[in-house]
Amino acid sequence: MSSLIGELIYAEIDDRRNQDRPPGSDVLSLLMSARDETGQPMSNAELHDELITLLIAGHETTASAIAWALYWIHRDPQVGEKLLAQLNQLGKAPDPTKIVQLPYLIAVCNETLRLSPIASLTVPREVKEPVELMGYQLDPGIRLYGCIYLTHQRPDLYPEPTLFKPERFLERQFSGYEFLPFGGGVRRCIGEALALFEMKLVLATMLSHYRLVLADLSPEHPQRRGVIFTPARGVQMILKEKLTA
Ligand code: HEM
Repeated sequence: MSSLIGELIYAEIDDRRNQDRPPGSDVLSLLMSARDETGQPMSNAELHDELITLLIAGHETTASAIAWALYWIHRDPQVGEKLLAQLNQLGKAPDPTKIVQLPYLIAVCNETLRLSPIASLTVPREVKEPVELMGYQLDPGIRLYGCIYLTHQRPDLYPEPTLFKPERFLERQFSGYEFLPFGGGVRRCIGEALALFEMKLVLATMLSHYRLVLADLSPEHPQRRGVIFTPARGVQMILKEKLTA
């Protein structure tokens, strides 16, 4: 491994191995204290691979989805108000498992991932044997990509597809072929449940503690960063009021 990020990760692992204080509760400590069924810990290479997955596939994706959600929620103040009203119904310090089941919060997260998908394409699938798909003859070696963005923009599935309308997810259920922000099939995102859980809890915590407004009301556009699409201006917000002590 010769990349800079690889070097940094291996240095961090070495550093931890050489520390004599007890392991903390951070992710690297937990990974280092994990044992497989034969009692073996992970090697440095395995620890590196776990951390790279979390960093590249897990962190930036979810962080960007939360940024998009904050943008859409505050673009239309009614969305934020409706969300806050549902959150307030759960009372003080609600149970996280109750928060993540709130129908309107689920709808807002889904509509964010529909309209501003973090990945516009799935990972490619390579044709292994000749196959006909929707009238196209596909030969071995051809690479196929599912276009998440275009599927989510189909007006027959999502009327007025460019508008942010969380209600569409309350009015009907979409199949895995219609709504696919995490891809599909056996190679779909392994982090889907974690990402949605994190998204909902972070948004609920922010909205119930702070009143925020967008610093700039002009449209936020997607910008490619590596393989994902993030808000170009970074969704700058102004803290107007702290809602709880
Ligand atoms: C909002 C957040 C996320 C989005 C939108 C997202 C989206 C995706 C998409 C579209 C794919 C390709 C699936 C396919 O081709 O069918 C994928 C794959 C993957 N994701 Fe995520 N992801 C997110 C969060 C996470 C998190 C939190 C983790 C891990 C902690 C993660 C780990 C992975 C891995 C390991 C793969 C490759 C799976 C494979 O090839 O078998 N992702 N993700």
